[in-house]
Amino acid sequence: MVVTFFRGHPTDRLLPASLILEAANRVLGSPKPYSNDEKSRNPLTYGPDEGSYFVRQQICKWYNGVLNGTATPECINLTNGASYGALIALLRTTSPQYTKGAYVVSPTYFLINGIFEDVGLRKQLRSLCEKDDGRYDLDALEAELAHEKESSPQKPSRFTFRYVLYLVPTHNNPSGHTVPLEDRKRLLEIARRYDLLILADEVYEWLNYTDKPNPTSLTTLDRETLPEGSIGNVIGNYTISKVLGPGLRVGWHETATPELAYHLSQLGSVKSGGTPAHLNTYFVGDMMESGAIDKVILNLNTVYGERAHAYRAAMEKYLPAGTKIDGGNGGYFFWLRFPNGYDIHAITQKCKDAGIMLAPGQHFEVTGQPHGWGDHHFRVSLSYHESDEATEAIKKWGEISQTCRK
Ligand SMILES: Cc1ncc(COP(=O)(O)O)c(C=O)c1O
Repeated sequence: MVVTFFRGHPTDRLLPASLILEAANRVLGSPKPYSNDEKSRNPLTYGPDEGSYFVRQQICKWYNGVLNGTATPECINLTNGASYGALIALLRTTSPQYTKGAYVVSPTYFLINGIFEDVGLRKQLRSLCEKDDGRYDLDALEAELAHEKESSPQKPSRFTFRYVLYLVPTHNNPSGHTVPLEDRKRLLEIARRYDLLILADEVYEWLNYTDKPNPTSLTTLDRETLPEGSIGNVIGNYTISKVLGPGLRVGWHETATPELAYHLSQLGSVKSGGTPAHLNTYFVGDMMESGAIDKVILNLNTVYGERAHAYRAAMEKYLPAGTKIDGGNGGYFFWLRFPNGYDIHAITQKCKDAGIMLAPGQHFEVTGQPHGWGDHHFRVSLSYHESDEATEAIKKWGEISQTCRK
């Protein structure tokens, strides 16, 4: 059996097929008032550009209750998951001619690089490095932006930003860190000052294995402090992939203002076909209304929370003394720093030969902005393997590591 610590997919048994089936039966099996409602439309026809109003209402009721949000349906634009959500957001708010810098927190969710390339921002990529404590050097970021401040060229539209910053604020992939409230506030101040859009990839918000609530979301902070006439500086890019299953392809944008949410919905392909995952968004809306989604989250937090504990115990016991272990408080990942003196490349190769797939740090660089994450780091996903399989593999990984000392 191959054990993969690379894969960020849920274990099959955690996919809530029967609850989704029940939701599908309710959505498709009985006539609903929204069938003739232009704002929501029948689930089997083209949806409105911003998505069904019924579903957006359910998202707000549910999300505001669970995470203390303040969203209204007019500030929500439905998407088909965070990957397309990021693409749509960047297509609608940046321009390769006008957008001068695209900051990405490093280490990063590596597949985001390709999305920046898709929108023509490859050359504009810059990294914002996480420090050892998981925080960023915001003074340095601000100094860089201040230094560049020039007599501003004409803004092509009020929806096009000069800079963009991509981050996963809560239980980051890969580092597991959560941006503290004071840094969120400071980022927002910087964003306002320098025409910067914050693209907050909110993928792991619901997976929290501690009793500490998450800090207030960047979108909520944006709404609370919105200057007169502003469209806002944050797009919260939410997805249901890590809760109900990535195959559903359902997510949403949350913005501080209805104007920005509506602008995001006006992509040509969305205007042509309507909201991109219309039917599936109804299943999700139904599961929010019925409370089925809460059962799923409760179960995931129990299972993943226990796994996080078991994985950590095994890593502390079997991996080289002095290995720094971050993450595991929520989301899918641990981020490890091996002590000096180990050949990370050789460990990765020997583990592969032994049927253990590791994810060494070089995979989590921002394109063209290497920070040397491959010299010491590994990401470990807890989403796929049960604790006993993982413990066995971590033990073997530890033994192999001792044969790869430099
Ligand atoms: C940070 C981050 N963003 C986006 C995605 C992809 O999300 P979706 O399945 O909603 O496209 C993932 C999945 O691993 C992720 O970790």
